[in-house]
Amino acid sequence: MRTTTTRSRTRLRLAGALATVLVAAGIATGPAAAHAEGKPQTLADLAQRHGRYFGSATDNPELVDEPYKAILGSEFDQITPGNGMKWYATEPQQGVFDWSQGDEIVNLARANHQKVRGHTLVWHSQLPGWLTSREWTAPELRAVLKKHIQAEVRHYRGKVFAWDVVNEAFNEDGTYRETVFYKTLGPGYIADALRWAHQADPKVKLYLNDYNIESVGAKSDAYYELAKELRAQGVPLHGIGLQAHLALQYGYPTTLEDNLRRFSRLGLDTALTEVDIRMYVPADEAKLATQAEWYRDLTEACLAVRRCVGITLWDYTDKYSWIPAFFDGEGAALPWDEQLARKPAYFAIREALR
Ligand code: G3I
Repeated sequence: MRTTTTRSRTRLRLAGALATVLVAAGIATGPAAAHAEGKPQTLADLAQRHGRYFGSATDNPELVDEPYKAILGSEFDQITPGNGMKWYATEPQQGVFDWSQGDEIVNLARANHQKVRGHTLVWHSQLPGWLTSREWTAPELRAVLKKHIQAEVRHYRGKVFAWDVVNEAFNEDGTYRETVFYKTLGPGYIADALRWAHQADPKVKLYLNDYNIESVGAKSDAYYELAKELRAQGVPLHGIGLQAHLALQYGYPTTLEDNLRRFSRLGLDTALTEVDIRMYVPADEAKLATQAEWYRDLTEACLAVRRCVGITLWDYTDKYSWIPAFFDGEGAALPWDEQLARKPAYFAIREALR
């Protein structure tokens, strides 16, 4: 349920306006200022008081940007590699594994005392050419899939706390996406993938992850039914990742909290795993204010449901967002702008976490 009140909206606008004035005047509004008032410094600090993490995705090419890295290392307590652990990066030739990109991010996270979500083991996109350029029999593909999953999960055992085991398995109408895995192996590939991952690391939390499942609806219902079935069969599934790539033009997913709650009732964790809220650019004050409200509302929704374990931004700054390259004329989706300055959304998240 959405809990927006006029008072909190007003508070938010005032906070945003005050921040703008202070930034314009060259007065710090960030961690140092918060610290001076004796308040927790970072989004991570604030989230931890609720037993949650607050994270960001990152990508290897960005790690040469020192100002970017400084915020990534200080404001968040969790990181997800945006690309570096995907199949094309980790098994570029069949049976030849390359952990260099994932390792770089794991090492950075370790240096910053951050935990890592593994992303992703089985996905129809960003597959290596050797896998997509030929036909496979079911036994062949089963063996390829098992080997990939187990090699990667074993390599990152003890280094990642959760895996997106299968990513984006359903269509919008709740039918199975006709990926090479589904077409060759049938729907059972999902249970198999979870079992193989569990064998390779019995402690890591195993998730199914998708977009457009924030609301109750055909696609999230498909996950609900599948999760119920898998749990009943004793398949090791521990959580559902809701990517939460939202867009102002499509409206806020008002049933988010109810949706998180129904997965909790199945005994599953949930997480908001790839959050961004895009808009048509240029951004203006009104759009940024609405965006800020949405960030506040989704943070509150996660805090309201005990088993919603944390929130991850799909990178934290507009400087490195995937949106402009994929959606023509859209952008400005993250709480930090392209100059790494905090936007109203940042202050709204803080307000929700307080
Ligand atoms: O590596 C090449 C580089 O050699 C080349 O010069 C460059 C030129 O375009 O492209 C580079 O590849 C890009 C790759 O990211 C690595 O940067 C691809 O073009 C680009 O399409 C790819 O985009 C990624 C996208 O997944 C692919 O679908 C985004 O960075 C990544 O953020 C995005 O993440 C996904 C999640 O994994 C799953 N959920 C949706 C989310 C957004 O699409």
